[in-house]
Amino acid sequence: MARTARTGKPTLAVVGATGAVGTVMLQILSQRADIWGEIRLIASPRSAGRKLALRGEEVEVVALTEDAFDGVDVAMFDVPDEVAERWAPIAAAKGAVVVDNSGAFRMDPDVPLVVPEVNPHAARLRPRGIVSNPNCTTLSMIVALGALHAEFGLRELVVSSYQAVSGAGRRGIDTLRQQLSLVAGTELGTTPGDVRRAVGDNTGPFPEPVALNVVPWAGTAREDGWSSEEMKVRDESRKVLGLPDLRVAVTCVRVPVVTTHSLTVHACFEREVTVDQAREILATAPGVVLFDDPAAGEFPTPVDVVGTDPTWVGRVRRALDDPTALELFVCGDNLRKGAALNTAQVAELVAAELGGS
Ligand SMILES: NC(=O)c1ccc[n+]([C@@H]2O[C@H](COP(=O)([O-])OP(=O)(O)OC[C@H]3O[C@@H](n4cnc5c(N)ncnc54)[C@H](OP(=O)(O)O)[C@@H]3O)[C@@H](O)[C@H]2O)c1
Repeated sequence: MARTARTGKPTLAVVGATGAVGTVMLQILSQRADIWGEIRLIASPRSAGRKLALRGEEVEVVALTEDAFDGVDVAMFDVPDEVAERWAPIAAAKGAVVVDNSGAFRMDPDVPLVVPEVNPHAARLRPRGIVSNPNCTTLSMIVALGALHAEFGLRELVVSSYQAVSGAGRRGIDTLRQQLSLVAGTELGTTPGDVRRAVGDNTGPFPEPVALNVVPWAGTAREDGWSSEEMKVRDESRKVLGLPDLRVAVTCVRVPVVTTHSLTVHACFEREVTVDQAREILATAPGVVLFDDPAAGEFPTPVDVVGTDPTWVGRVRRALDDPTALELFVCGDNLRKGAALNTAQVAELVAAELGGS
């Protein structure tokens, strides 16, 4: 393994350091235990020369080139799918273990899809030198579901998402902020089309206005009316949990929240469940916070969950008509556990392994 002479610690590259996920990644790397030697920040040539704050210093961004991976042990990729598809194999061929946040390799049978609280062992077997991170919607619920699955055996999921605009990157955030500035302080939202006329034709990465609205669509079109985001939730939940036949029904919805995805979950298990058992599991599961006292006004919402690491769970109920099913409301910061934090955790697993620990 290449080691910097200065520190003897592994060298990390962050590809896509200037993006929505990359920005949170730099904060996380500045906050977590400092296991890295050099951290090289990489983005498109547009950003080369920019200086970004990392571990209390200013670090200059370099352009993505083959040479940028010289001496790199672990390379995190936080870039669009097509950029990862081209460059992750190049980084791997240069000897780096790639931890990729894009959708480019998630369903490749030779690429493990890893959530450290659920299937950490999978990160060790990586024939292509690439480990994938699940998408943010799956990640926002999977830690809680993995804990319940380990006890009760998951059989079926019925899920609706309430997804934040930052799931669509910096453009998503910019679009919501701009639209909010156009509708704030008005009486819009009372007649058909009034919001649409106020925000104009440019709806950014979304098919409809997102301010003062909910949009039942995320991603691109797949067969039979499904969206790409919905297919990811189904396919990636199956892969992470090791349940290739898990029944999953899902509808993904975009809401006017900046960051933190929420989901309602109807989870069916192999055997009867009780709320007390479920609460005990969720209260003790690593990476999960049980926040569930509706009588006291306690349930998770994005305004409190944003900026935090765990998966928050509330509204835990046994299904009214099925003693083997639970109803949950789950919130997770889509840029932290939903992206950057999970990547950082996987990279730490890889670094520990490379270091022989
Ligand atoms: N947002 C989320 O909640 C979330 C969650 C999980 C996974 N992801 C995935 O993470 C990845 C990054 O998402 P994001 O939301 O952070 O996107 P973003 O805000 O649009 O940022 C994209 C990043 O990629 C860089 N980039 C774009 N084209 C490049 C090129 N040709 N060469 C080198 N760098 C290039 C950009 O650099 P410049 O600034 O120089 O253009 C920027 O750093 C995507 O694959 C996304 O699907 C996102």
